[in-house]
Amino acid sequence: MTAVGIDAVEIWTGKLRLDLPGTFAPAEGEDPEKYTKGLGLETSSFPDAYEDIVTMGANAAKRLIDRKGLDPQEIGRIDVATESAFDNSKPVSTYIAGCLEQVYDDDFHHANKGERKFACLAGTQAIDDAYNWIRAGRNRGRAALVVATDTALYARGDPGEATQGAGAVAMLVTEDPSVVELSTEQGYGSADETDFLKPNQQFPSVDGKRSMQVYLARMREALTDFESVAWDAHPDDFAYTPFHTPFPGMVRKAGLLGYRHMIRDTEIEDALEGRIGRQPREEAHEDREAYEEAIRGYMDELKGTEEYRSWYGDVIGPTLDISRRVGNWYTGSVHLARMSALRHAADNDVDLAGRKLLVASYGSGAQAEIHAETVVDGWREEVEATNLDDQLARRYDLSYEEYEGVHDRHNHDMDVEMEEFTRPDGEFVFTGWGRMSERKYDYVE
Ligand code: HMG
Repeated sequence: MTAVGIDAVEIWTGKLRLDLPGTFAPAEGEDPEKYTKGLGLETSSFPDAYEDIVTMGANAAKRLIDRKGLDPQEIGRIDVATESAFDNSKPVSTYIAGCLEQVYDDDFHHANKGERKFACLAGTQAIDDAYNWIRAGRNRGRAALVVATDTALYARGDPGEATQGAGAVAMLVTEDPSVVELSTEQGYGSADETDFLKPNQQFPSVDGKRSMQVYLARMREALTDFESVAWDAHPDDFAYTPFHTPFPGMVRKAGLLGYRHMIRDTEIEDALEGRIGRQPREEAHEDREAYEEAIRGYMDELKGTEEYRSWYGDVIGPTLDISRRVGNWYTGSVHLARMSALRHAADNDVDLAGRKLLVASYGSGAQAEIHAETVVDGWREEVEATNLDDQLARRYDLSYEEYEGVHDRHNHDMDVEMEEFTRPDGEFVFTGWGRMSERKYDYVE
């Protein structure tokens, strides 16, 4: 069977940054260590006055198309994953294609375009759609462009304000890919939940603490489901495990849970027995509550072991580097985690080709999806060709008052003019509204 997977990735960050421990925490009367030690965040990205989900998505896509030397006719599908759309009918993918058609001679009139929604999970689902389209033989040899783009804003004063972010990840899905091959096996954990939702409103209604519990519960289900069709996962099976990362502290919790699950009945559990005992078994406890209490105690002990700390440092830590510096990008977040891991491997000269990743995506509402990916030859060149470090270094550093203005500017219920903080340079920009309230864009040389 021909390999199908991700052939190229480009990232576009919002051009502004907010220093969370240095600027946001003091203005909010909070301890900066809540950010550095608790949530694991340093800065979040925000869009400048002329940026939005379309410009960020189109700019990431243009970088990808230019770098791969593609002609629009070679792209047969454009799917946008977002939970920040501003139209209930016209998909963001048409806007992005319209932007790209301003700069290329050819057009995307024969590409199938759509928009995927399931909170942060939609980026992964759009990759699935592309994979299935290629596997079904409907692609006529063409590639699929998947763009995950979001402006993750919470209402002012909501605890979620600590975990905002904005940016886009463009991915090309093809046969014989150059970055990762996707596994056919997938696991799902899905339930009707009201932890985080946006019932026809821009900012989420969110029960933060509950959303974290739901994230962990659905991840556990998805891992068990993945194992039922793949194999019993072992911590040594994977070079990295990129998770959906609303903030790194969330992944710290998920990583511990995953590790406990994977070491059960293995030589690692045996080796730890003398120090922290064996994992509690449900049948040995009077009721579920007693069992859960025992599990919490075991996890507290496990967290401190050298085995766990070293696995976490090697397999999870490297996936969090980008997220720590940009915040939550919703649909793009797990794809940033993958890139973060690959960049770490490239920087440290790790030979990754043939190694596996366990990719754990999540969307509130709620559903987790877990699958494996195999890194393929060519990954290093692809990763080294991106310019994320330059983009991150060039971001404008906002004061708290400026941040308040940026939040208002991107609030759909407010009509706020704002001077731009950066100058557009070879990119798409938002220019205003047309006669049917459509958004308008230009390419600035
Ligand atoms: P909060 O009330 O602002 O923060 O809510 P907190 O007081 O719980 O502190 C956060 C952590 O920092 C805690 O760590 C504190 O102990 C620690 P934990 O106990 O959980 O390990 N902390 C400190 N550590 C050291 N020194 C200090 C200090 N102070 C505190 N001085 C919350 C945080 C994440 C709930 C909030 O920001 C929120 O509601 N965020 C939005 C929801 C969210 O991100 N949920 C995550 C799971 S759901 C998900 O991932 C889906 C999502 O991406 C949406 C989608 O799918 O579309 C959100």
